[in-house]
Amino acid sequence: MTAIKWALASGTKLKHRIIDSIADTALRLKTTGRIEPFELDVAPQSLAGAHAYQAAPYLVLSKMFAWIKKETATESFFDIGCGKGRAMYMAHVSGCKSLMGLDHSEEMCLAARFNLGKKGVGNSEIYCQDAREVSFPSDPCIFFMNNPFGTEVLRPVAKNLIDQMNPDSLLAFVNPLREHVLRNTGFKRIETLDSYNHNYKISFYRK
Ligand SMILES: C[S@@+](CC[C@H](N)C(=O)[O-])C[C@H]1O[C@@H](n2cnc3c(N)ncnc32)[C@H](O)[C@@H]1O
Repeated sequence: MTAIKWALASGTKLKHRIIDSIADTALRLKTTGRIEPFELDVAPQSLAGAHAYQAAPYLVLSKMFAWIKKETATESFFDIGCGKGRAMYMAHVSGCKSLMGLDHSEEMCLAARFNLGKKGVGNSEIYCQDAREVSFPSDPCIFFMNNPFGTEVLRPVAKNLIDQMNPDSLLAFVNPLREHVLRNTGFKRIETLDSYNHNYKISFYRK
């Protein structure tokens, strides 16, 4: 049974890698691949708890934005741990008018600016900052995380976010492995999309 589960998971991940490569080539973007935190230009104090760069699959993001469009008319999007900007680009394509992203790696921020610039996406701001140090917008906004860091970072970030975010804002989380941290902070899960043989979960929260 475990072997079957493993084979299904590997097959699903391979399928997404192939589709993502094709999509990147077609869109002339550079967002694929995995980069470990120690390979990035990150300050030592920011390294602990950081997860690797790996973009959420295009198909998962499409599914997420299709749900978001039905749920809210908010047109601002903020990617906490934006990496190379794939989710920001997908937010633009799905109609978001104001895009914000932050990443603690300057290299990632440059890549995100490059990708968005190449597609002529002008309405975007990328901040090179540790997520623990940022002030989040108090206007209605769609916040997004693709499992960017572990508990020790998520706890203070979730606390700042819930204190600062508008009651009409939404938090979308891909692979919410540390959901208990969000719940303990006061976030309420309103929906979970469980897709691709349970390999990609997207949960949505409100304060
Ligand atoms: C899994 S990637 C997600 C990339 C992007 N959101 C996407 O789905 O395409 C996580 C990103 O979070 C960034 N990150 C990790 N810890 C961070 C921190 N403390 N502050 C800001 N960014 C962080 C990493 O550099 C990485 O680019």
